Amino acid sequence: MTDITSQTEAALAAIAAADSLDALETQRLDTLGKKGWVSLALKTLGGMSPEERTAAAPAIQSARASIAEALETKKAALEAAALEQQLARERIDLTLPAQVAPKGSVHPVSQVMDELAEIFADLGFAVATGPEIEDDWHNFTALNMDETHPARAMHDTFYFPDKTGECREILLRTHTSPVQIRAMLDQGAPIRIIAPGRVYRSDSDATHTPMFHQVEGLVIDRDIHLGHLKWTLETFFKAFFEREDITLRLRPSYFPFTEPSVEVDVGYSTEGGRRVVGGRGDAPGHAWMELGGSGMVNARVLEFAGLDPAEWQGFAFGLGIDRIAMLKYGMNDLRAFFDGDPRWLAHYGFSPFDQPTLSAGVGARA
Ligand code: PHE
Repeated sequence: MTDITSQTEAALAAIAAADSLDALETQRLDTLGKKGWVSLALKTLGGMSPEERTAAAPAIQSARASIAEALETKKAALEAAALEQQLARERIDLTLPAQVAPKGSVHPVSQVMDELAEIFADLGFAVATGPEIEDDWHNFTALNMDETHPARAMHDTFYFPDKTGECREILLRTHTSPVQIRAMLDQGAPIRIIAPGRVYRSDSDATHTPMFHQVEGLVIDRDIHLGHLKWTLETFFKAFFEREDITLRLRPSYFPFTEPSVEVDVGYSTEGGRRVVGGRGDAPGHAWMELGGSGMVNARVLEFAGLDPAEWQGFAFGLGIDRIAMLKYGMNDLRAFFDGDPRWLAHYGFSPFDQPTLSAGVGARA
């Protein structure tokens, strides 16, 4: 018995002295391992008479228990020490500037959407969203385009077939205007929102892609008139293009969901083959360019969206984001926007650190 006691003491001392996980493992193998002396001693119990076993077992069992516990405690201590060391070694100061330039860049469309949100937030507009997979009611009917309305044909809609193979109900939204309906139904009045996002039309050439981006604007309140619309767009474009000489022309037009409807043109000139916004479109060397549609929200649309036209009115506009991005940052081919060519992105993209803010400037490229 004294044999086991002294062997145990020696083992416990060796375990306490182990200075690495490897050294500790050696101790475990020597004692509790398959060929360790504790395991071998336990095996001898099988060959003993019951009396001998009753006499011998407790000492061996307790040796095994104390050694197992010592091994476990020591292992935890060594692991904790190793972790401490690793943490000390791998310490990094997150407040230091990054040593490598970030890979990738922010697409001009994303950048312009951030700029839009920033400018309109300053005018009290919230950003609203709606689904790109829309239903016919939100995209057309509630916008005063019933099934037979000729304007529907002009939208070159992508429809999803239903169970019967008919393609009527579910579609890819053809404009951001359905977000008007959703915002009115969700929030009631008054409202001041913009809704930037993707829209889809079955159309493709140098200036049209099947997917493109629009930003919708909607203001609903009491006593809103066309003057508010013109001021809002002018104020936006001055901030966006960072110049005071922005001149807008509102041209009478027709949209089923606005009455009256106006198309918004901006004056520009061409310098060195590049279009530069500013000045009147009818001044020498200048022309007008269409940026989008707008108008006073049609009373029928207010009714569809659950608002009383006797109490509420408002204006709405829809602008092509890709087009104003091209104008501002000097790109000339819309299709390159969606090619995903890393060279194009490296040239026209923005640093993720280049967040547009009104104070730092949303106009100029950093
Ligand atoms: N939804 C129209 C389009 O896609 C633009 C528009 C929006 C016109 C809001 C008027 C008011 O052409």
